[in-house]
Amino acid sequence: MLSAMLLCDMVCGRENDFAAAFSPSRSIVRPQLFVNGAEAAKNLLTFGKKRCPHLGCALNWNPHEHSWDCACHGSRFGENGEVLDNPANGDLKMK
Ligand code: FES
Repeated sequence: MLSAMLLCDMVCGRENDFAAAFSPSRSIVRPQLFVNGAEAAKNLLTFGKKRCPHLGCALNWNPHEHSWDCACHGSRFGENGEVLDNPANGDLKMK
């Protein structure tokens, strides 16, 4: 229904308050890429933390899941370093 209303307004040259929200040229990808890039840079430059064996981002202890979580690409490791979720394909080296 909304598509029909938008198309009708476009053909008739009328403005529609929802046109920008449903425009095919809208993009949420670029802002999300910026956020992900900033988070990855921050985690790569954080010293003194456990490192993810995937690409080396800092790991954060998750007290609710009792796991080490990587904010860069989502790998997770158990309390003893065993890999729980990819993309890391090796266990965490516990020192
Ligand atoms: S650096 Fe940790 S999952 Fe990629």
